Amino acid sequence: MAFKSPKGTRDFYPNLMRVQNHIFSIWKNTCKAFGYEEYEGPVFEQLELYTQKSGEEIVEQLYCFKDKGGRDLALRPELTPSLARMVNLKAPELKFPLRWFAVPRLYRYERAQKGRLREFYQLNMDIIGCTSLTAEADLISAVIEMLCAFGLNDKDFAVGLSSRRLIREFLAAQIPEDKIGQVYRVLDKRGKITEDLFNKMLTDLSISQGAIESINSFLNATTLSELKQMQCGGLLDDAVTELEELFNTLERVGYTGYLQLDLSIIRGLDYYTGVVFEVFDRNKSLRAIAGGGRYDNLLANLGGKQLSGVGFGIGDVVLYELLKEKGLLPEKIYGPDYFIVTFGDVDADLLSFARALRGRGKKVLYPLESVKVKKQMSQAVESGADKVIFFGSDKAPAGHFEVKNLETREQAIVAFDDL
Ligand code: HAM
Repeated sequence: MAFKSPKGTRDFYPNLMRVQNHIFSIWKNTCKAFGYEEYEGPVFEQLELYTQKSGEEIVEQLYCFKDKGGRDLALRPELTPSLARMVNLKAPELKFPLRWFAVPRLYRYERAQKGRLREFYQLNMDIIGCTSLTAEADLISAVIEMLCAFGLNDKDFAVGLSSRRLIREFLAAQIPEDKIGQVYRVLDKRGKITEDLFNKMLTDLSISQGAIESINSFLNATTLSELKQMQCGGLLDDAVTELEELFNTLERVGYTGYLQLDLSIIRGLDYYTGVVFEVFDRNKSLRAIAGGGRYDNLLANLGGKQLSGVGFGIGDVVLYELLKEKGLLPEKIYGPDYFIVTFGDVDADLLSFARALRGRGKKVLYPLESVKVKKQMSQAVESGADKVIFFGSDKAPAGHFEVKNLETREQAIVAFDDL
């Protein structure tokens, strides 16, 4: 029996790799346009790095193992703890604020479902060492610009903004402090379960009926003015003002149509403390495309200085599904500049000619075996080459070559120096 790839992984055959490279190149070009620098960490880390601060959900999904030296390790389910660890180690030498990006391959033992796999790629953009809301604005601008660069627009996706700080302060006014952690986890499930089950889960945590009602109306608020009316004795003022400032800035930059207030966004990871956001497709038929937020204490909690971070991750799997749904996957194959069609043998003369062309910075392909010219022509078309050069043709004078443009079908005799 032939082996299949393990459940939740993908085989990237060249046709899929081409799409993958398209995704990577738009990701990376956007990061560069925003001036972020690339970094990378190890694929496995000490297990404890995740069990300490990432939260229950991620820990349940860990691929962990003991190595031959008896060390407890885990394949990385996300990059943020590695980033915090790396920054902590070099903090005295680094110039803050940092604007860094990475494209790690990540591993989560997830239930198989559309848009979620066990092995996937995720672009991460993070700013460390900046408490200003401009950091959030920069990252949200980047995710919007990046998705637009794929050909998507505000009819296809929206950025939902929420605030952990606001939710925490609201909950603190409603329920006992020691219940907040458990309630967060129920809140995070809200979009995925029925209203009755949601209410029951809160009742099971001994949350009063009155508090459940106010939690529901708080989470349903869609405008900042609704929130302001709900002010719990001024307790929420600062957190609401923070969201308002961020909305104002992003609206003035021109992103109004992309933004939504969505307090049902809690984020499954424990370390977020401030503004949090997720990107969704407008039909909400897919899982979140991207998610992130501010984490004030993660670096300090992992033994470093008190440095605030903010960042997001965007996965390749949901993005691929969305691009496919919208007909935005690249179709054109970017092949070589020239395919050499030979009238003679495939021999050292042909290979030297290809070498000379590559020396001029051209991408060059040639047949690997002597086959009929017609067959070579179809190989050239399949390869996506821009042009064919006829090698050994008697139509061209010495030092010249007959060249055919495969798109326009035009044919010309060109001197080697002009190729
Ligand atoms: P996250 O919400 O767990 O955040 O993941 C962010 C994105 O990664 C998701 O919106 C989704 O596109 C993709 N993703 C997550 N799990 C899977 C999966 N099993 N299969 C396919 N795609 C997946 C984080 O990971 C944070 N560390 C992001 C961050 C960076 N926060 C601050 N900086």
